Amino acid sequence: MAEGTGFAKTILFGEHFVVQGSHAIGASLSKEMKVKITPSEELKLNIKTGQIVLDASRAILDSFDLSGNYLIEVETDIPSGAGMGWSAAFSVALVRAAAVEKGTFLDWEEVAERAYAGEKVFHGNPSGIDNTLASRKGAILFKRGEKPVPIELKEPLHILIMHTGKMGITKDLVAGVAKIKEEKPEFFSDLMEKEEKLVFEAKVALESGDLEKLGALMDLNQEYLRQVGVSAPELEKVISVAKNSGALGAKLTGAGGGGCAIALFKSKKDTDSIRHSIGTKYSFFEAQIG
Ligand code: PMV
Repeated sequence: MAEGTGFAKTILFGEHFVVQGSHAIGASLSKEMKVKITPSEELKLNIKTGQIVLDASRAILDSFDLSGNYLIEVETDIPSGAGMGWSAAFSVALVRAAAVEKGTFLDWEEVAERAYAGEKVFHGNPSGIDNTLASRKGAILFKRGEKPVPIELKEPLHILIMHTGKMGITKDLVAGVAKIKEEKPEFFSDLMEKEEKLVFEAKVALESGDLEKLGALMDLNQEYLRQVGVSAPELEKVISVAKNSGALGAKLTGAGGGGCAIALFKSKKDTDSIRHSIGTKYSFFEAQIG
């Protein structure tokens, strides 16, 4: 028996555009996934999942030359299809468990690299931000193929993560954005330039604790995400509830199409007003980043 752990994540700025080569900013969350592997007759999980989870598991186990079968036991409160990195947390946790099984020590960068094999099965063309965030604590500036840069936040961020209850399919949404890039190259490269500028402004705002600016940049990022077609009516609804309840800014997080939106509040106390507006319609939880 061997065990491993991975973190949930939230992308604060730059999802989707990061797949196409611009920078993004994300942070790991305190929600975790634990994976336990035990040799077994067949490759199976203790939870109901699609074949894709088994395929990703096989890819990861094979990369460690673990050709036998295992029972993979998953324990987590990370919702799947919600933009919180269920698949990346799973891949990272399984990599760590496989490394223990093999008696190999891996640092977090090696873990993230190995977990990419699983993410590729799940998402087709992942940027690598999710598996990086799932393997380490803290906030980072990330660009595809480059070493992530840790970001030191001046003030902790009080974020409310709101789940629309609708699943988003990352693979399809990423493919949809690639299609827009192909069909409207000028429109897309203009948007990429704007997004890149926004991400660097956000980095400065995080480092200087400028919450008002961060909120405005979240709203602007949401507008860019709308323009590449990854928002959804359910997301727009929770975003407007958050904004009407005093959020400094709000946007979808992760792949979109459903899943979660994040809203930034000045303080933990300020998140109370939105609890009443949301009521029991959506599930939500608070996260402090930094
Ligand atoms: O929704 P998630 O947790 O799968 O996040 C995907 C983030 C994307 O930027 C849309 C894809 C990627 O690989 O970076």
